[in-house]
Amino acid sequence: MDLFAEDGRGETAADAAARAAALRAEIARHDHAYYVLDAPTIPDAEYDRLFRELQAIERAYPALRSADSPTQRVGGKALAQFATVRHRVPMLSISTETDTEASGAFAFDARVRRALGLDEDDAAVAYAAELKFDGLAISLRYEDGVLVQAATRGDGETGEDVTSNVRTVKAIPLRLLGEAPPVLEVRGEIYLRRDDFERLNARQAEAGEKIFVNPRNAAAGSIRQLDPGIAARRPLSFYAYGLGEVAGWTLPATQTEVLDALAAFGLPVCGHRAQVRGAEGLAAFHARIGALRDTLPFDIDGVVYKVDALALQQQLGFVTREPRWAVAHKYPAQEAVTLLRDIEVQVGRTGALTPVARLEPVFVGGVTVTNATLHNQDEIDRKDVRIGDWVIVRRAGDVIPEVVAPILERRGGELPRFVLLDRFPTCPVCGSHVVRGEDEAVARCTGGLFCPAQRKQALLHFAGRRAMDIEGLGDKLVDQLVDAAIVKTPVDLYRLGVLALANLERMGEKSAQNLLMAIEKSRGTTLARFIFALGIRNVGEATARDLARHFGKLDALIAADVDALQQVPDVGPIVAKCIAEFFAEPHNREVIEQLRAAGVHWAEGEPQGSVAGALAGKTFVLTGTLPTLSRDEAKARIEARGGKVAGSVSKKTHYVVAGAEAGSKLDKAQALGLAILDEDGLRVLLNETDTNA
Ligand code: IVH
Repeated sequence: MDLFAEDGRGETAADAAARAAALRAEIARHDHAYYVLDAPTIPDAEYDRLFRELQAIERAYPALRSADSPTQRVGGKALAQFATVRHRVPMLSISTETDTEASGAFAFDARVRRALGLDEDDAAVAYAAELKFDGLAISLRYEDGVLVQAATRGDGETGEDVTSNVRTVKAIPLRLLGEAPPVLEVRGEIYLRRDDFERLNARQAEAGEKIFVNPRNAAAGSIRQLDPGIAARRPLSFYAYGLGEVAGWTLPATQTEVLDALAAFGLPVCGHRAQVRGAEGLAAFHARIGALRDTLPFDIDGVVYKVDALALQQQLGFVTREPRWAVAHKYPAQEAVTLLRDIEVQVGRTGALTPVARLEPVFVGGVTVTNATLHNQDEIDRKDVRIGDWVIVRRAGDVIPEVVAPILERRGGELPRFVLLDRFPTCPVCGSHVVRGEDEAVARCTGGLFCPAQRKQALLHFAGRRAMDIEGLGDKLVDQLVDAAIVKTPVDLYRLGVLALANLERMGEKSAQNLLMAIEKSRGTTLARFIFALGIRNVGEATARDLARHFGKLDALIAADVDALQQVPDVGPIVAKCIAEFFAEPHNREVIEQLRAAGVHWAEGEPQGSVAGALAGKTFVLTGTLPTLSRDEAKARIEARGGKVAGSVSKKTHYVVAGAEAGSKLDKAQALGLAILDEDGLRVLLNETDTNA
C-alpha cells in the first residue's frame, strides 16, 4: 500500500492508520472498563459508533486489520481438529486437602513450615489466598503485548491450540495495557457465570439443542468448539491466577504482586483474594469465602493457598507433579439423604417440562431443601430414580438443588419406573398436549400462545418488530399486563382499552393512546409475519416466509400434513412435525380464530410453490456474517432458485453478498466493480421480501 497516496476523500492511508490505531486503543480501554472492571465508561451507542468507524476504516484499508484489532475477535474458520501445543512451562495441578475443616489449613501450613525447616519461634509464613475457580485451565501467550496463542492444559505437557475461540472472550485483552514484556504467558481459568449459564441453557433449550449439566461443562464445551462462531456466542469469562513462560520481565517478589501486575496489564484478576499470615489467616479466609460462596456470581471449587514469596516457592519445589507450595482446600459437600415423595413438573418459559422432585424436607448446606431438579427424563433414567426412593440431594452454590442418585440398598421392594410422558400426557398448567421430539431430552407443552407459563414470552414474540410489530409493547409492559391478568392471549391485546392501560404503573393516558394506536396498526399484517408471530417452534422468519409463499392461505397451511409441509423448501421432518403439532392443538387454532375475529388480517395469495430457476446461470459469492441468514441458509436459498455459490470472486461473479466483517472478497468485488448486495438485497433477488410474501 502506498502510505502517502490520497484516496478520494483527500485522506491518506497514513491518516487512516493513525485513526485506526487510536480507535483500537480507545475500544480496548472501553472493553477493559466494561468486561474487566465491570464499570462501563461510555453508552453502548457511542461504543458501537467507534466500532463501526474502525470497521469502515479496515474495510477501506484491509492491510490495517491487525490481529489485535477488536474487530477481529471472531474471524477464525471452523476447524477439523485443534493443533497441539507444547507448553514451554508445564501446566501442573495442585493437590487437594482432603480435610475440609479449618484443620485442613493448619495441616498445610505445618507441612510448609516443616519443609522450610521453620520451628515454632519462626515468624508466620505469608500466603496468597485465592478462589479455586471451577472452569477450564487456559494458558495465554502474549508476545510484545499481543495475544498470539491460547492453549488448554491437556495433559500438562501438551494442550490444544484454542486461540480462535479464546479470542472471542471479551474479558481477555488482545493487547496488554502498558509496557508489556517480550514474552508473557498468563495462566488462568475460563469459566461461565451462573446467570450466563442459565441464559445459555435457556437459549439451548429454545433451539432444541443440548442442555449443559453445569457451568464448568458448558465452559469446557464452548472452548472445545471447533467453530469459533459458536464459541463467540457463549458468554465466557476469565480470571488470571498465575504465570507460565516469561522472558524480558523482572518477576515481582510475591504471588500477590504477580496478580497485581497482571491486573495492571489489563487482565481480569478476581477481587476475592487476600495476603494472609499463618494457618489462622488461611482458616479465616476459608471460613469467610465459605460464608459468601452462595452469593458469588460463579461456582467455585474451594479456595487455593499459595506460599506468597516466589523465592520460597522455588525452595519448596515439587513432589511428583504437584507443587509443595500450593494446595486446594475444598468445602464440605453440601449433600444430604432424604425421601423422594413425588415427582412433579415445572413448565418453563419455552414450554419445556422439567421434572421436579418433591422431597421430605432436609437441611443441606445451611438451608432447608424441599424441591430438587431431576433435569429431564434421560437423567431420571440414567440415575434410575423412582418415587419412594431414598436419594442423595446436593446443593452447589445457589443453583437449584439436584437429586444426585438413589440409594439402591434402601429401596424397599419394587418401585415403578417414572415416565414423564405417562404421568403428564398433558401440560399441568394449560392442559395442552406434551410431546418429546425423537432426539430431544426435553418434553414440551404444545400450548404455545395459550399456556400461561409461556404467556409472557409468547406475547413478546408476537409483538416483536419482525412479527406483528407492536411498537411500545416491551418486557416491562408485558409483565404488568400478564401479572394483572389483563392480557392472557394475544387476542386480549386487541380488546384493550385506554382505561385498563392508563391505570398501569408508569403509563399515562398519552402512552396508553400510543400503544393502542400501535396495536390498531398491527391488525393489518402479512401472512408471513402472522405465521412467524405464532411462535411455532423452529419456525423463524425465513421459514414463515417460505410457508406463506408456498401455501398462500393460512387455512391451507393449517390443513397441511407433515408430507405436504416437507414440500416447502428448507422444511425437513423436524420442522414439519413442529408445525403440524402446533396446528393440531385445538387451543392454538382457537387463538388464531379469535385473532381473525378481532380483525387481524392480511392479503392471501395463490400457492406459489418455489420459484425455482429464477436465478439460473447466476453466480454468487458470500462473504462476512449476514444479520439473520447463516452461510448455509443463504447458499441453500440461492441454490433452491437455481443460482450457484462460488468460493472466490472473479470477473465471472454476478453478485457478492456481503455481511458484517466481510474480508478481502469484498475488496476484490469493489475493485472489479461487481454488484454487491446486503442481506435485504439478496432477499429481493430471492423474491423473499415482505411485499411478495
Ligand atoms: S494455580 C502450579 N490457582 O485448579 C499451580 N489453579 O489443580 C497451578 N484453578 O486446573 C494452579 N483456580 O485451572 C491455581 N486460583 C487458582 C485456581 C486454579 C482454579 C484450577 C486450575 C487447575 C487446577 C489445579
